Amino acid sequence: MASSKNNTIKLKFDSARKYAPAPESRSAAKINARYDLFINGKFEKPLSKKYFGTISPSSEERLSEVADANAADVDKAVKAARQAYDRYWKKLSGAERGKYLYRIARMVQEKARELAIIESLNGGKPIRESRDFDVPTAANHFFYYAGWADKLEYAFPNRQAQPLGVAGQIIPWNFPLLMAAWKIAPALATGNTVVLKPAETTPLTALKLAEIIQEADLPPGVVNIITGAGATGAALVNHPGVDKIAFTGSTQVGKIIQNAIAGTPKKATLELGGKAANIIFDDAPLDQAVEGVINGIFFNQGHVCCAGSRLYVQESVFKQVVQKLKDRLETMIVGDPLDKNTDIGAINSKEQLNTINKYIKIGIKEGAEIYQSSAELPHKGFWCRPTLFTNVAQSNRIAQEEIFGPVLAIQSFRTDDEVIEKANNSPYGLSSGVWTDKGSKIFNLTTKLRSGVVWANTFNKFDPTSPFGGYKESGYGREGGLHGLNAYVKLV
Ligand code: NAI
Ligand code: MG
Repeated sequence: MASSKNNTIKLKFDSARKYAPAPESRSAAKINARYDLFINGKFEKPLSKKYFGTISPSSEERLSEVADANAADVDKAVKAARQAYDRYWKKLSGAERGKYLYRIARMVQEKARELAIIESLNGGKPIRESRDFDVPTAANHFFYYAGWADKLEYAFPNRQAQPLGVAGQIIPWNFPLLMAAWKIAPALATGNTVVLKPAETTPLTALKLAEIIQEADLPPGVVNIITGAGATGAALVNHPGVDKIAFTGSTQVGKIIQNAIAGTPKKATLELGGKAANIIFDDAPLDQAVEGVINGIFFNQGHVCCAGSRLYVQESVFKQVVQKLKDRLETMIVGDPLDKNTDIGAINSKEQLNTINKYIKIGIKEGAEIYQSSAELPHKGFWCRPTLFTNVAQSNRIAQEEIFGPVLAIQSFRTDDEVIEKANNSPYGLSSGVWTDKGSKIFNLTTKLRSGVVWANTFNKFDPTSPFGGYKESGYGREGGLHGLNAYVKLV
C-alpha cells in the first residue's frame, strides 16, 4: 500500500496535470519476442543470421528483436516479388486486386486498437494520435486505392495503365504504419508487387501489417516486408530487379538514392524534408490560428516532414500571438505515449533527440530568444519540452534547416510581399499555412508560395484523395489521390 505521503505527492502531481492518468492497456497488444523477414508469404529466418533490438523510446525498454536483412535477403525478397508479379499479380483483374485491398483495409480497422498501441509503444507518439489519426488514415488509404483498382481506365482515359513491376519502398519512422499503407496501397491497386523496408527504429507495426497480409491470404510474394537499417535500404535501391523506388525520409538519403539510380531505368518518387511556414495575418481568428500552429509543430513531437516549424506573424498582432502560444504551451502534457491525455510523446530515438538538442543550442548561440514550457519530463526515455524561439533572423540555421522536433522559430512581417519572400526563402517546399479572414489574400498566397501543399485556416490535414509532395529539396513526385496512381504505372 502506498504511504499517505506518497498519496499527497501523487494528488499534487495529478492536479497540476489537471487529469488523472488514463493509460491505454498494453495487454491488448501482442508483440512477439522476435520477428523474421516476411518473404513470399512466410516469416523466414534471415540469411544474415543477424537480429537487432527494437525499443520503446519512452521507457528504453526492449520490446522485441527483428531480423537485419543483408544483400542476400534483399535479393530473396526481390525475387519473390518478381515471381509473384510474373506468375499471377499482373494477370489478375483490377476487381480481384481491389478485393484483397478491401480485405486488408477492413483487417486494419479490426485490429486498430492493437496497431495503435504498438505504434505508440515503438514510436513514442501519443496514443490519441495513433488511435485517431495514424491507424484510421492507414485503413482509409487501403479503402481508397481499393476503389481505384478496377477503375484505372477512368483514372487514365483513352490510355492503358500498365504496372511497372517490382516496387522497392523505403519508409521513415515518423508515421510507420501510415507510410506503409501510403506506399503499398497504390502499388498493389495498379498491379505492382512490393518489397517494403520500414525504418530501423520502428519496425513493429509494419510486421503486424505483414501478419495481416498473411491472414488476408494475399498471394505469396505480392508484398514482402524486410527489416534492417540504411545498408538494407541501399541494397534494395541498388538491386537490378527493382523497377521503381518510393522513398520517404531525409533529403540527404534522397540525394544518395537519386545518384544511385541515375542512368538506370528505375523510376522514383522521393518525399523528403521540409521547413514549412505558417503565416498569421492580423485579420486572422487568432485563437484558431494559435491552435493550428500548435498542432502544426507539436503534433507527433514535430517529427513531421510538413511540420509548421517556421511561424511568421504580422507585426500588429505579434506580441499577442506569442503570448497566446506561450500560455498554450504551459497547458500541454508531455509524457507517457500510452496515456490518453498526453499531448506530446517521446522523441523517436536518442539520435533524433541529440539532433534536436544540437539545434536548440545553435538557436541560442545565434542570439534567438528561447522559451520552453515548464513541463516535468520523465526520467527514462527521450524527451524534449515544446520550444519557441523569437528574435529569429531569416538567415539563422534554426529558420533554414529541418530540425524535426518540437521547436518553432517565430518571426514578424509587415506586408504580403515581404512574407511571401521570407516563406519562399528556403531550400525546401513541402507545405505552408495561411491564416486570414480574407479569401483574396489566401488566393494571392496560394499562387505564390512555392510549396506542394498550402493549407488555409487549418494545418496538417490529410486525406487519401489529395495528392501530397514537394518542390525543391522536398523531393519530387506525388503520393495520394489520383496523382499517386500515376507514380506506379506506365501509360501506353
Ligand atoms: P533517413 O533518411 O536516414 O531514414 C529514412 C529511411 O531510409 C529509413 O528506413 C532508413 O533505414 C533508410 N535509409 C538510410 N540510409 C539509406 C540509404 N543509403 N539507402 C536507402 N535507404 C536508406 O532518416 P534518419 O537518419 O532517420 O533521420 C535524419 C533526418 O531526416 C531527420 O532528422 C529529419 O530531418 C529527416 N527525416 C525526414 C523524414 C520525412 O518524413 N521527410 C522522415 C525521417 C527523417
Ligand atoms: Mg539516416
